[in-house]
Amino acid sequence: MSGFSAEWLALREPVDHRSRNLALQAQVIQFLGQVKAIDSGSIHITDLGSGTGSNLRALAPHFGLQQFWTLVDYDADLLQSARTTLIAWADSIVDANEVEPKRTALGLINPIAIRKNSKTIAIEFQCADLVHDYQAILDKPADLITAAAFFDLVAEPWLVQFCAALTQPLYTVLTYNGIEKWSPPEAIDADVLRAFHAHQCTDKGFGAAVGPSGVDRLQSLLQGHGFTTVCAPSPWVMDQHDRALIEQLAIGTARAVRETATLSNATINQWEYARRNARQCDIGHIDLFAYQS
Ligand SMILES: C[S@@+](CC[C@H](N)C(=O)[O-])C[C@H]1O[C@@H](n2cnc3c(N)ncnc32)[C@H](O)[C@@H]1O
Repeated sequence: MSGFSAEWLALREPVDHRSRNLALQAQVIQFLGQVKAIDSGSIHITDLGSGTGSNLRALAPHFGLQQFWTLVDYDADLLQSARTTLIAWADSIVDANEVEPKRTALGLINPIAIRKNSKTIAIEFQCADLVHDYQAILDKPADLITAAAFFDLVAEPWLVQFCAALTQPLYTVLTYNGIEKWSPPEAIDADVLRAFHAHQCTDKGFGAAVGPSGVDRLQSLLQGHGFTTVCAPSPWVMDQHDRALIEQLAIGTARAVRETATLSNATINQWEYARRNARQCDIGHIDLFAYQS
């Protein structure tokens, strides 16, 4: 278990999808079209920290007719949920040896092939811990490495090694950048945000996490290895229509801040109460595309 529930990932998925930076996405598609004849040929994509497959569901409709995806996560429950969710999302099933997900000794959950919007999408599920297994994952043939809401979890030393090992283009979206705006404003917003950032930088499995500086570090390390990088904003902009996500975000932020023990419980409770009922909430994210020409 990773601490990211399938329910939380499902709640954020529609907001994630509408927040992605479409201009940058178009640039990625154009790049792949040049190097890979994306419309006619087949394309291999490896998605890091895939959760239940949200990134695939956002991108596959824009890629070519024949796609091969490897979804990588260390949480077997999320990967099994990904398999079930993708079968439900598909227009039809081309091949799913067995309907029920099964885990093999190699950490693979039985693959599926589905059709969606006239595309054939073969999907492999790889249960692997990227802390240790990133090199083996990067060694697999892939035209593109993707990730969503992942690179703020990793630690600087891991990022240094990952960027040194990366040879494929990388497209990572929705990395938290630390900018938050809640409306109406509260006097304690700045204190809560500071404490939340301190929590974001605690160990998420890779060592002390880069947190809100994830994209900046990724960008400068990749540039150091000769990659061209392009960044673009992808903020969550939420209002009354996003009540359920705003409420869970307030609860989750307050829980994280409590763990830092830097603010009184009364202060956090007051903030949580106000934020569960916030009118509007913007959460900053950055999308990044890195490639070598
Ligand atoms: C914020 S969630 C994002 C999930 C998915 N990309 C999405 O956009 O819905 C982060 C994901 O990274 C995965 N993850 C965290 N640490 C990992 C590790 N060491 N190895 C593999 N996956 C990891 C979690 O299990 C979780 O699915």
